[in-house]
Amino acid sequence: MLKLEAVSTSYGPIKVLRNVSLHAKKGEITCLLGSNGAGKTTTIKTILGLVKPNSGIITLEGRQIQGLKTADIIKAGVAVVPEGRRIFPKMTVYENLLLGGSLIKDKNIIQSNLKKMYDLFPRLAERKNQIAGTMSGGEQQMLAIARALMSNPKLLLLDEPSLGLAPILIKEIFDIIVQINKEGTTVLLIEQNAFKALSISHAAYIMQKGEIVQQSTGQEGISIEEIKAAYLKKQAG
Ligand SMILES: Nc1ncnc2c1ncn2[C@@H]1O[C@H](COP(=O)(O)OP(=O)(O)OP(=O)(O)O)[C@@H](O)[C@H]1O
Ligand SMILES: [Mg+2]
Repeated sequence: MLKLEAVSTSYGPIKVLRNVSLHAKKGEITCLLGSNGAGKTTTIKTILGLVKPNSGIITLEGRQIQGLKTADIIKAGVAVVPEGRRIFPKMTVYENLLLGGSLIKDKNIIQSNLKKMYDLFPRLAERKNQIAGTMSGGEQQMLAIARALMSNPKLLLLDEPSLGLAPILIKEIFDIIVQINKEGTTVLLIEQNAFKALSISHAAYIMQKGEIVQQSTGQEGISIEEIKAAYLKKQAG
């Protein structure tokens, strides 16, 4: 679905991504793990064309997207839940969701997507007329995910969806990611919460200082189980 091949990105003179190659396969959940400052958000920004890579190729379903405008990349079927949620705080839940579906012209599809989102997130249904900025952190995260899904994306990019949430809400969010994926959406999940992310992922990449240092596919042939084991060992001591 999404392939990055030897992508490098800089902010001015500062190199942030170095030769990043990554493949989010169709129908799968792929996670990109890494600590603060590793370059995870920069990877998302590069995919979306918010920052331009210095070199490398990015393809979506075989079509090159690097260099395209962000709006065109989104139209091609990519949706994002950005870091820090960024819902529209002064608008209601319902208005936020409508904006998520604003590229869809067919009113019936918008209505059916709204219904799907209210089924997936009953809490949003209860609160559809609430001003989004007054909702709890977890509710805002659910809204951010639902808003992204309103556009029927092929590929959903999630930038640290569990950040700052209580364990019970993290479980809820991860259950929903699994459900969304089972219904056919390909997911690229960015996380610092390695255990949770690995537990639901089909493939994993570990990023350090802008480089992929481990991956569950490719030449090294490390399996996702080995990556999971490495993390468990690290945790154990
Ligand atoms: N606009 C910018 N200008 C200059 N440097 C930047 C800019 N945005 C990010 N950086 C730097 O790039 C590096 C990678 O940042 P990035 O936000 O991609 O990390 P991250 O892996 O998402 O970290 P976190 O887990 O903390 O969100 C950091 O050293 C950061 O300071
Ligand atoms: Mg980040």
